[in-house]
Amino acid sequence: MKKILITGGAGFIGSHVVRLFVNKYPDYQIYNLDKLTYAGNLENLSDVDKMPNYHFVKGDIVDAAFINQLFEKERFDGVIHLAAESHVDRSITNPMEFIFTNVVGTVNLLNAAKTIWKDNYEGKRFYHISTDEVYGALGDTGSFKETTPYSPHSPYSAAKASSDHFVRAYHDTYGLPTVISNCSNNYGPNQFPEKLIPLFINNIKHNKSLPVYGKGINVRDWLYVVDHARAIDLIFHKGKTGETYNIGGNNEWRNIDLIKKLIEIMDRKLGRPEGTSLALITYVTDRAGHDLRYAIDASKLRAELGWEPTIKFDEGFEKTVEWYLANEAWLNNVTSGSYQDYYKKMYGE
Ligand code: NAD
Ligand code: TYD
Repeated sequence: MKKILITGGAGFIGSHVVRLFVNKYPDYQIYNLDKLTYAGNLENLSDVDKMPNYHFVKGDIVDAAFINQLFEKERFDGVIHLAAESHVDRSITNPMEFIFTNVVGTVNLLNAAKTIWKDNYEGKRFYHISTDEVYGALGDTGSFKETTPYSPHSPYSAAKASSDHFVRAYHDTYGLPTVISNCSNNYGPNQFPEKLIPLFINNIKHNKSLPVYGKGINVRDWLYVVDHARAIDLIFHKGKTGETYNIGGNNEWRNIDLIKKLIEIMDRKLGRPEGTSLALITYVTDRAGHDLRYAIDASKLRAELGWEPTIKFDEGFEKTVEWYLANEAWLNNVTSGSYQDYYKKMYGE
């Protein structure tokens, strides 16, 4: 019997991790701690929220007193920390929120774990989920290794880099049994439609323009979210304490090529003549500090723990589009209210 705290479990990746753990480990008690910001949605977990081993706690990781009390009461054996402000564009307009949640929130969790575990770390683990964006930007060649020096360019990636440093510092200074993974861009069901893929699916559906930043030549490495959740399960159970693992899809796309592929699938699914939605592409001012290219070398994870992505991009991308088209109510719910204000501020329509 283990008590595991998953933070940010109502968000995109967190909800897939919670689902996997609740279903796969009936002997574990899974606690999902989430503030339910605009990005957190309990609907994402409607298929598992009645399970006897699932518990939801609403709370803010920035609130140290609350976090300390929660750890004191529940005495978790493990933490899988995903809660974060996660959108680069929002970090450009409001960096402080990112510093509070991503840095202060992470250190609050480290302190609470250190306090309740004291120096008895047997069977304990603090797993911090991070991003490849901490490594900065690549040119046309090469890929990020676990040893690549950090060089973040956005307030989002700077805050994530800072939190990674604190996690390592707590391992090196206090011996806290930590592990970190840095993953490339995820795609799949339940992603908030401010990120490229769900935003563009929603816009194509409503015949709205597709704001391509700069020339559309930036490259991202895309991984299906369920494969990320599988990697997290593996690293949580088998990863070496104090280590970092890079996770990636080995699946690089220039934005404009990805968008054209998405248009091809969407026009087919919506019964529009091929290429109709290409007219929606609108080149807009580039994102400030826009990283040119991300690519992950995931060979350590493959060699040490035997992880490989299982979902081919063609299959995952098609499934993703189908999910958003089939879950209109979900999309309508999350794009009502404050989303409208965000959209106007961001894209001016
Ligand atoms: P998300 O924005 O969809 O979800 C974040 C969740 O954290 C939400 O449920 C939100 O309510 C919660 N949260 C935010 N602030 C909180 C606070 N102060 N206290 C408690 N809960 C809070 O994010 P995501 O895309 O699922 O990313 C999850 C994690 O994975 C993040 O740490 C992110 O940096 C990392 N990551 C994401 C990607 C990606 O492509 N999305 C890739 C690599 C790593
Ligand atoms: P995003 O999904 O925000 O992920 P990240 O910035 O964390 O990689 O963006 C993916 C890529 O798509 C990135 O190069 C920025 C670009 N992009 C656009 O061109 N237009 C948009 O409206 C958005 C949201 C992103």
